[in-house]
Amino acid sequence: MDCTRTVLVTGGSGFIGSHLVCSLVKKFPDWRIINLDNLDYCCSPKSLESIEERENYTFVKGDVCDTWLVGHIFSSYNIDLIFHLAAKTHVESSFESPSIFKWVNIEGTEVLLRAAHQAQYQLQRFIYVSTDEVYGSSLHKVFDESSPVRPSNPYSATKAAAEFLVRSYWDKYKFPILITRSNNIYGPRQYTEKVIPRFLTLLHMNKKCTIQGTCPKSRHFLFIDDAIDALLLLMEKGNDGEIYNVGASCEIPIIHLAKELIIMVKKDPEVNNWLEFVPDRPQVDLRYPITCEKLQQLGWRAKVPWAEGIRQTVKWYQDNPDFWSDTSNTDITHGQIRSKPEN
Ligand SMILES: NC(=O)c1ccc[n+]([C@@H]2O[C@H](COP(=O)([O-])OP(=O)(O)OC[C@H]3O[C@@H](n4cnc5c(N)ncnc54)[C@H](O)[C@@H]3O)[C@@H](O)[C@H]2O)c1
Repeated sequence: MDCTRTVLVTGGSGFIGSHLVCSLVKKFPDWRIINLDNLDYCCSPKSLESIEERENYTFVKGDVCDTWLVGHIFSSYNIDLIFHLAAKTHVESSFESPSIFKWVNIEGTEVLLRAAHQAQYQLQRFIYVSTDEVYGSSLHKVFDESSPVRPSNPYSATKAAAEFLVRSYWDKYKFPILITRSNNIYGPRQYTEKVIPRFLTLLHMNKKCTIQGTCPKSRHFLFIDDAIDALLLLMEKGNDGEIYNVGASCEIPIIHLAKELIIMVKKDPEVNNWLEFVPDRPQVDLRYPITCEKLQQLGWRAKVPWAEGIRQTVKWYQDNPDFWSDTSNTDITHGQIRSKPEN
């Protein structure tokens, strides 16, 4: 097909990636959207069903760490834009197997950067999707983009390391990179290891929501549609070499989150019947407060209030109980995947 722009999304079969790919494919029918993903355990082919037959969508099954494959993509297509999302993303698993996190999150980013930089065709923008977790935890200080980076788990350490690699291409070559650091994103189709789908899946199985530890842990939650709006805005209006926080105003203590979901799903006012407290890691990040004024100055506002986003999310999981059917064989009690489904 003749296309006016070519966009490469890595990790486009995952939670955020699949929403991003669907949005790009539908909004821009004259752009070619390429998804490079190795279909890790957290993916379902159903996530991209609505666009897989579209002429402007191309799927490449493969590893972002595969130098030959990534080079081949750049010699086959004139890539204008990259959204780099492919990563190992589960914090608990990162303590159990940090090496694979180092490999995919750091080496994968290096392979992609090098190939993009060496490509004959000049890239317009390389967007690296990072996380608020690179700041580490804070009780009172609100982080802006100039705050120091103090990651406190192997996942966030690898994301921070990859950020430094990305920034080094800006510092040395003025290669047009941009970094986003987002709060927790939630919505339909998120794999069951993350907290909201984990609670919903447990409740669906008539099991209790497991709360790790007794610390007053809370998280900021941003609905997936607002996160995608931010990425699309930054694609057009962001400035090269810059970092942008993508923040949610809605902060919810995890215990309140569980109680809210119990009331929505079980309609049982005796919420304690559905709670179970389990041991936590010795050190846990209590909260990640960030300000996103810089992104707001470009015109972005989160549009979906928590009540609406969580209503849509709960409804989706109720309407699609078999979407992640393998999870019935999986121990999600502590938010960890004990037996991973076959790819
Ligand atoms: N979900 C959040 O709340 C959140 C918040 C901030 C930042 N992020 C970042 O956004 C990105 C996407 O997160 P997500 O929640 O969609 O995660 P996810 O785990 O749902 O998706 C990750 C995707 O990467 C793919 N992948 C993993 N290893 C790969 C490899 N070696 N080669 C190719 N593809 C590979 C997986 O198959 C999957 O499709 C990640 O980089 C994550 O760090 C996520």
